[in-house]
Amino acid sequence: MNLETVQKTNAKSSGLASEVLDILRCLACRSRLDQRAGELVCSNCGKQYPELNGVIRFVDAQNYAGSFGFQWKIHARTQLDNANSQRSENAFRQRTGFRPEDLAGKLVLDVGCGMGRFAEVATRWGAQVVGIDLSVASEVAAQNLEDRDAAIFQADVFQLPFAENSFDFIYSIGVLHHTPSCEQAVKVLPRLLKPGGRLAVWLYSSYNPWYRMSDVYRRVTRRMPQKLLYKLCYGVIPLYGVHQVLRKIPLVGRPASAAVAWLIPMSFNKDAEWRVLDTFDWYSPWYQSKHSYEEVFRWFESCDMEDLRVVEEPIAVNGRKPLS
Ligand SMILES: C[S@@+](CC[C@H](N)C(=O)[O-])C[C@H]1O[C@@H](n2cnc3c(N)ncnc32)[C@H](O)[C@@H]1O
Repeated sequence: MNLETVQKTNAKSSGLASEVLDILRCLACRSRLDQRAGELVCSNCGKQYPELNGVIRFVDAQNYAGSFGFQWKIHARTQLDNANSQRSENAFRQRTGFRPEDLAGKLVLDVGCGMGRFAEVATRWGAQVVGIDLSVASEVAAQNLEDRDAAIFQADVFQLPFAENSFDFIYSIGVLHHTPSCEQAVKVLPRLLKPGGRLAVWLYSSYNPWYRMSDVYRRVTRRMPQKLLYKLCYGVIPLYGVHQVLRKIPLVGRPASAAVAWLIPMSFNKDAEWRVLDTFDWYSPWYQSKHSYEEVFRWFESCDMEDLRVVEEPIAVNGRKPLS
């Protein structure tokens, strides 16, 4: 991403809530930041964090996350809940274990917010949300949440601009397995929680054998030009219809469908737009690791997290930072 993009101040980031400004810290010297027109400035070392297209930038490039910027710009609202669909709210419950009464009135960090579908749910439940994302998806989230109690920043989980002990709740859904080290990324987060605060992460499962062939294809697909790969994903989507037909054939139909699914793994989402998005989201990211409950429990325990819980949809773990 080129930071020479046209600068546009939006009402939300030019008026950060005091609760958010209080916890923001300079990446260079960890001092507090002051808000000026179109930027945040370190009160100590003077380092500037510019606001571009309505988002304050704590990174100057998307780095390896460019495919996410691409997909969320195209699918800016595909997965947002609306009057006819509560799918993101359901997924949020199943992947975090959080309930509306937990988050209401709390300060919540969404790590890797993408286009903001889960932050939308959390704000609907009454939370004040801070969302960060490494990619320009942060611009999409800022637009989607402009009428909500939410502040969105472009930032890297490995260099977060927040003071320790800041948040009541932190969640990260489908993000940390897309970083160079999922373990290190998980371990960054507990220190940002207030004592007694809860962290929930949802990661890809290493128990699922259906991933094997896609791991082979991904060696090529993650290197492909994004537009080409996106078109290819559209190309395989009609296979969904083939599966529907195959499964109606007695005896041989289901094994045949399973064999095709093994050879050409793709999303089976019932909504065609979600199918294309999910399939691209699977084949495009540079990093994609898979994890077991044993691993994630070990990481949480090594950060002294307690009251660890397995949440409904694997691999989802939720734990509490001790009060003392
Ligand atoms: C699969 S998307 C999930 C987005 C959102 N959580 C959701 O479930 O809709 C993964 C997101 O993680 C972000 N991401 C990847 N590496 C990151 C990092 N080091 N720091 C912050 N965000 C990161 C990507 O830019 C992308 O938007």
